Amino acid sequence: MYNNIGIIGFPLSHTFSPTIHAHYLDMCGLNGGYACFCESDSNNLGNLLQMLNKYNFIGVNVTVPYKVDIMQYCKQLDNTAKIANAVNTLKFCNDGIVGYNTDIYGVSKMFSNADVSIIDKNVLIIGAGGATGAVLAHMVEHKPKSVTIANRTIEKAKKLSENFDINIDVCSLDMIKNCEFDIVINSTSLGLDGGEFTNYGFICSEALVDLQYQADITPFLASYTKNKVKLINGLDMLIYQAYQSFNIWTGCDFVPDVDKLRKLYYNHIGK
Ligand code: ATR
Repeated sequence: MYNNIGIIGFPLSHTFSPTIHAHYLDMCGLNGGYACFCESDSNNLGNLLQMLNKYNFIGVNVTVPYKVDIMQYCKQLDNTAKIANAVNTLKFCNDGIVGYNTDIYGVSKMFSNADVSIIDKNVLIIGAGGATGAVLAHMVEHKPKSVTIANRTIEKAKKLSENFDINIDVCSLDMIKNCEFDIVINSTSLGLDGGEFTNYGFICSEALVDLQYQADITPFLASYTKNKVKLINGLDMLIYQAYQSFNIWTGCDFVPDVDKLRKLYYNHIGK
């Protein structure tokens, strides 16, 4: 058996997922390959999924900007996908596609590995796309003092916040200037295509988190210059969401070799 797996998204030039999954295939002694399907037009997603099914793909990851759009092609949604209101993992089954959200697990490992607790904290999330759902799912479980979402499109943030059973304040990006938070999380895709990151002027006292991982210190982490805080990029989230996706596709259970993956990551980003 050949395990055909991969990723759909745009842009994908930064992705480290193929290396992670090649490592997981090695660890489990499986044959297979992880292919990148760079698709710039959401109207082509249906045809792309049909093609992948025809070529016996067992599953794919879904990333920016399709984590919400892709849900319409799922015959069934796992509970994780329903909770996050987004899908980052598809499994091709005999009777249709099942959508999962393994970002929730990735987010929780990212916080626990960095020793950052959400309980009783004032949290700011910048962005209201597919990745934010997984972050909000983590918030619901960990009882912060307050959660604020700041987004370019305020209506999108309002709509997303209605799906979660916690009190969420919503505001525009220009309203966070000089506001103080314990933990600030960037879940926008801004900067992935090389665009400049704006310094929004908020004040953070404990941890600055970026779900992006294209550099050790990503453009968002670098944009914060006010005071010393813990800086966390999205590498651990990536490693652990990938682990759970791989487990869903192959049924293999193993302990990821995180030290080895970190070395491969530094190689990937040219450090
Ligand atoms: P993902 O699935 O990874 O969350 P997404 O659903 O495309 O990706 O969401 C991208 C997020 O980045 C959104 O919050 C988007 O803001 P809008 O809701 O207004 O579209 C945000 N984003 C993307 N480009 C941006 C930019 N140039 N400035 C500010 N926010 C941006």
